[in-house]
Amino acid sequence: MSALERMRVLSAHLRLVSGPAPPSRALREITPAELAEHKTAKSMWLAIDGIVYDMTPFLDDHPGGKRLPLKYGGTDASEVWHSMHRPEILAEHAAPLAIGVLAGSRAAPPTGAPAGARPAARDARAYAASLGACERELRAFIDEENCHPILIRLAWHDSGTYDRALAGRWPECGGANGSIRFDAELAHGANAGLKKAVLYLQPFKDKFIELSWADLIQLGGAIALELAGGPRSPVRYGRVDVESEAGCPPEGRLPSAYPPFPGNVDAATHLRHVFGRMGFSDAEIVALSGAHTLGRAFRERSGVVSEGYGKASATRFTHPDTNRPRADGAAGLGMAGGRSWTERWLAFDNSYYADGLAAGQRGEAGAAGGGGSGAPPRDGALLWMPTDAALHSDPIFRLSASRYAHDARAFATDFASAHAKLAELGSRFDPPEGIVLP
Ligand code: HEM
Ligand code: HEM
Repeated sequence: MSALERMRVLSAHLRLVSGPAPPSRALREITPAELAEHKTAKSMWLAIDGIVYDMTPFLDDHPGGKRLPLKYGGTDASEVWHSMHRPEILAEHAAPLAIGVLAGSRAAPPTGAPAGARPAARDARAYAASLGACERELRAFIDEENCHPILIRLAWHDSGTYDRALAGRWPECGGANGSIRFDAELAHGANAGLKKAVLYLQPFKDKFIELSWADLIQLGGAIALELAGGPRSPVRYGRVDVESEAGCPPEGRLPSAYPPFPGNVDAATHLRHVFGRMGFSDAEIVALSGAHTLGRAFRERSGVVSEGYGKASATRFTHPDTNRPRADGAAGLGMAGGRSWTERWLAFDNSYYADGLAAGQRGEAGAAGGGGSGAPPRDGALLWMPTDAALHSDPIFRLSASRYAHDARAFATDFASAHAKLAELGSRFDPPEGIVLP
């Protein structure tokens, strides 16, 4: 058994001996002085993002050995920890080791409370019940409005500002923390048009006031995906919101679709820069880009197409009289207009890759791959940006893109896990292990 496998068993064991992590487990406050007393292999504690973990039972099984961690025993190891681990390891492996909350933590207070204060632990059971009730109402709303794509885009633009180099420095690191609800962030060029999505969610926030914006935004995206026929993304909830515009990230962290890309690099390199900063691999970049199997672009928003709002400038795929793009084939597509990437743009399938592959075989996508105008994949009425084309022209990206073109199931599986990772970038959870919906 590998060290990692042993550790997984250990994690499961710890969960068993302590029982399923009680939803609203109250973590006691631990002072830096008390933390500092636990720095040897006999009793080794450390703090990460304001939570104190007892690493002692796990030291022997830690895949990175025990020598290095011991150097940081008894201290706030947030920075070094984040430089060596993927953020999701905190929830997957460290959560069962959590024993307390560090008093006077360096982490930014999330509620406008005095420095060092933490949010009162949530009643996770009650919170999960509210999420469930909200989910039911949101489902009916999305189904009625056909607003799946814009909710998926809102969720991605909240989380896609994450910068792993700032991991542990919340909220400067950006990510899924609800900051996109503020006008300061909605005014970023990449977010053009997303105010509408925030307004869609506002009544749900008013009704389910206890839910954080960050959760509501991710819940909307995850349900929209599922309603479009996509996978149920294993997203956790319990996010803490940034409280003011001061928590918004600087502009410029989201990808551009057309050149010139920053640094005058080509489209593939641009995608690697932007998504690499969030911690995504090449394969994950390709999987996530497949979200463009859904939705449209508008002249009034991104301006990357000449088609705007309304029937007058719709393509035949975005006009309700000539297309039924929903997964169930029912009538309705929300507001008419804009240009879509695929024909059935309210249905989650792998046509985004299949179309691109076909175009590549005809030499179209390849021609645009380095950052040209982006040849349409099959039909002049469909959208194809240089960043879409790059998935078929770059020799590494192309391996995943052609796999997904042939294997819809592989796409759905990989998309679900990359999407769950995206939905949790930079999130701070209360309780720290998050809340899983049934
Ligand atoms: C609660 C505390 C910790 C937990 C739960 C934990 C967990 C893990 C896990 C799951 C891995 C495997 C990485 C992977 O699968 O991607 C790992 C690797 C590693 N950890 Fe930790 N770790 C902890 C603390 C620390 C500390 C304090 C240090 C050093 C300051 C450290 C240094 C490393 C190193 C060097 C690796 C190997 C990275 C590599 O080979 O790329 N860990 N840890
Ligand atoms: C790979 C780099 C990406 C670029 C350059 C990009 C760019 C764009 C642009 C320009 C639009 C049109 C916006 C408008 O005019 O309304 C758009 C729409 C959209 N994007 Fe992306 N995007 C990228 C990645 C993603 C990812 C990772 C996701 C989700 C996981 C996503 C989901 C969407 C959705 C669902 C829409 C449609 C929104 C609607 O119909 O209202 N995109 N994207």
